[in-house]
Amino acid sequence: MANVPVHLAIILDGNGRWAKKKGLPRNAGHVQGAHVLEDMCEIVWNKGIKYLTVYAFSSENWKRPSDEVALLMKLLRDYMKNSVKRAMKNNMRVRVIGDKNGLDEDLRVSIAELEDATKGNTGLNFTIALNYGGRDEIVRAVRKLSSEHDAEFMKNLSEDDLASALDTSGMPDPDLLIRTCGEERISNFLLWQISYSEFYFADCAWPDFNEAELDKALESYSSRTRRFGGLVKGEE
Ligand code: IPE
Ligand code: IPE
Ligand code: MG
Repeated sequence: MANVPVHLAIILDGNGRWAKKKGLPRNAGHVQGAHVLEDMCEIVWNKGIKYLTVYAFSSENWKRPSDEVALLMKLLRDYMKNSVKRAMKNNMRVRVIGDKNGLDEDLRVSIAELEDATKGNTGLNFTIALNYGGRDEIVRAVRKLSSEHDAEFMKNLSEDDLASALDTSGMPDPDLLIRTCGEERISNFLLWQISYSEFYFADCAWPDFNEAELDKALESYSSRTRRFGGLVKGEE
């Protein structure tokens, strides 16, 4: 396909509604959603996409019932522990963005081990947003910069300086952002990075997302004209 995004970001939404529709507990939707995500990493790489960033748990999702939070943390723990082999086989580099300080110690250790084991891989750059909030990320970045630099530096702070202190430092901004299950909002995801991203809202819930649904989003993306505030050739 022509004109594939370099960086695809996805708000994985609708696990709970998917399960409810089937008469299952919400947690069943999260289990199915986790399977779909594993497959999607391979599918997007085969499309020529280099970066995949997914919203798995927001800094606001702690407000969910405790059994749901516990299941989501268990799935994330299992992923960090069990996916080293598959990531190595697929040459995939895995990173986690978000406030890791808010996570349990054992989960932090598993994340560090997975990030470290895959850091030399040159295939898909797979990033999981976990205990992530866009506003929180910006505040943490400013605090980090102000603890490392003097007042003069802070007075002259540039966009590049701030971007370099974000969790996504070194990554290109998303070209395309997909949100599944019909809601058309950002819910505090990648606020800084999506300044010029194209948005695509899919009706299907995340546990039903598949290659055909991805193709629809990529087709829509490839037909769009990105102008970044300027004009493209022929419009002048
Ligand atoms: C997305 O599905 C997964 C997380 C937010 C962790 P939801 O759990 O938000 O499912 P809905 O939106 O309630 O259907
Ligand atoms: C956003 O979805 C967070 C994730 C997908 C992890 P939510 O389901 O939490 O968002 P709202 O509450 O509907 O805005
Ligand atoms: Mg939701």
